[in-house]
Amino acid sequence: MESLNVVITGTSRGLGRAMALGFAGAGHTVLGCGRSAEAQTALAEELGEPHDFQAIDVASERVGGWAAGLIERYGAPDLLINNAALINEVRPLWEVPTEEFARLLEVNVYGSYMVLRAFLPAMIERGRGVVVNFSSGWGRSTSPGVAPYCASKFAIEGMTRALADDLPAGLAAVALSPGVVDTDMLRTAWGDSAAAHPKADAWAKRAVPFLLALGPSDNGGSLTVGR
Ligand SMILES: NC(=O)c1ccc[n+]([C@@H]2O[C@H](COP(=O)([O-])OP(=O)(O)OC[C@H]3O[C@@H](n4cnc5c(N)ncnc54)[C@H](OP(=O)(O)O)[C@@H]3O)[C@@H](O)[C@H]2O)c1
Repeated sequence: MESLNVVITGTSRGLGRAMALGFAGAGHTVLGCGRSAEAQTALAEELGEPHDFQAIDVASERVGGWAAGLIERYGAPDLLINNAALINEVRPLWEVPTEEFARLLEVNVYGSYMVLRAFLPAMIERGRGVVVNFSSGWGRSTSPGVAPYCASKFAIEGMTRALADDLPAGLAAVALSPGVVDTDMLRTAWGDSAAAHPKADAWAKRAVPFLLALGPSDNGGSLTVGR
């Protein structure tokens, strides 16, 4: 089996960390980031070489330098996973603090765009690769209290489909809903009832093979893990 280079944002915890462990366990090289230097260092120590984990905020100007360094060392990614995201504290839209709304859009939408623009030229030059932008059930339907998050994930769906129109043959961009998984994010949205859902490591056992099976024919897809 060919060893792939897999870039994953948001590898400090939750689905990102579980995917990092899953891809590394399957023999692939994982290049990850998150804001927490402590969490990235811990993962780097746990997985060792050739994997690489750095403290990078996807909505910061450091994304370009991070990507350039990885491309120089490893080449263009085979799989680029925009996983990092925030959810708002559950409340009606008009009660959401302006700073919280702005920061959520900045991380979930602008951050994903920053990562795409940093890695895609190298992927296009090489002529292959798959981009996976993490969406949500709340990128396709709505619930009370999560309007900022819905706005961001509906944006991810639209941006991904339009990006798919831009991409040359050989590449693919898909929006992916992971399903419902018991992580910090789900606890913020659902409280203790999140415990009724699978943990991230169990989810990754299904998600990693699903992600590895994606290819050019999936371009423009709005997919859900396991379906
Ligand atoms: N869990 C679910 O049921 C569910 C359902 C639908 C969609 N999703 C989507 O799946 C993805 C992962 O969710 P999750 O449940 O694993 O969330 P989570 O437990 O809250 O983890 C979020 C991850 O993103 C990182 N992150 C946040 N802001 C960042 C930034 N500015 N720059 C870099 N990294 C950042 C966090 O690390 P740091 O704090 O160290 O930065 C953390 O590793 C998200 O896109 C989410 O919207 C999840």
